[in-house]
Parts: sequence; structure tokens; C-alpha cells
Amino acid sequence: MHNADTDVLAGHTVEAGTDILVCPYLTHRDPELWPGPEHFDPRRFLAPGGRPAHPGAYFPFGIGPRACLGMQFALREATVLLEHLLPYTPAFDSVPEKAEHGITVRPAGPTLATLRPPRT
Ligand code: HEM
Repeated sequence: MHNADTDVLAGHTVEAGTDILVCPYLTHRDPELWPGPEHFDPRRFLAPGGRPAHPGAYFPFGIGPRACLGMQFALREATVLLEHLLPYTPAFDSVPEKAEHGITVRPAGPTLATLRPPRT
């Protein structure tokens, strides 16, 4: 639904019909939302209050009516994959030094690893 009037958003005048894009890369690294935003700390999602309560603070699958259609599938797929991979120990042959920025951030190039089976 479109509002036909000019509006003010976060102090900025926005003309009617203006396209506004959100940038997960920047929001996910906003120090006003995330303590130590550059620090890889998956446990922050486990600790109570470890992630901002604001629903717009974290949106790896996008947000709003055009958010990722495959989100539930992807989360389930990742859980199943992890369940199979966790017993193995990966030995990385090389790790890409750069990231590729597209609709998601991903390693720029292959990340080859050898999986060592669990000791029996
Ligand atoms: C970890 C895996 C995935 C991530 C992080 C991801 C992320 C995203 C993001 C950020 C968008 C753009 C949302 C926007 O425009 O605001 C998107 C769109 C979309 N994704 Fe995914 N996605 C993933 C997996 C999947 C899978 C597995 C499927 C299908 C089985 C899928 C189907 C789609 C479709 C159809 C759209 C377009 C939705 C639209 O424009 O209405 N995604 N995804």
C-alpha cells in the first residue's frame, strides 16, 4: 500500500514513491544495536538478551512482504545438514580471504575441506 504524501523518516524527508532499501550488512554491524558487532560470537544468540529485541535488528532472510520464501526450508535444511556434519572434523585446505557481497554475504570462492570421520 502506498501513502501518497511526503514523509519524514529518521529525520530525512522522503518524497512519495521513493524506493527505500534496507541493508542487512550494515544493520547487523551497527554498534548501537550489537555489542562487538565485528566479533564472531554465535553464542550471543543463546544468551538471554544477547541479541537486540527489535525485530528490525536482524533479518538475514530479508524483512517485510518480499522476505525470503525459503526461510523455513533453509533453516530446516541447515539443521539437518549440521546434524549429519557435526560428528566429523573438517580440515580446511584453504579459506577464502575475501567475501562476496550479493543478496547474502558468502565466501568469494570455494572453501574446500576434508571431513575426518569420528573415532570409533
Ligand atoms: C540460508 C539460506 C537463505 C538465505 C540467507 C536467504 C536470504 C534471502 C534474502 C535476503 C532474500 C531477499 C529478501 C528481500 O528482498 O528483502 C531472499 C529472497 C528469496 N529467497 Fe531466500 N534465502 C535462503 C534460502 C532460500 C531457499 C532455500 C529458497 C527456496 C527453496 C529461497 C527462496 C527465495 C525466494 C523465492 C526469494 C524471493 C522472495 C520475493 O521476492 O518475494 N531462499 N532470500
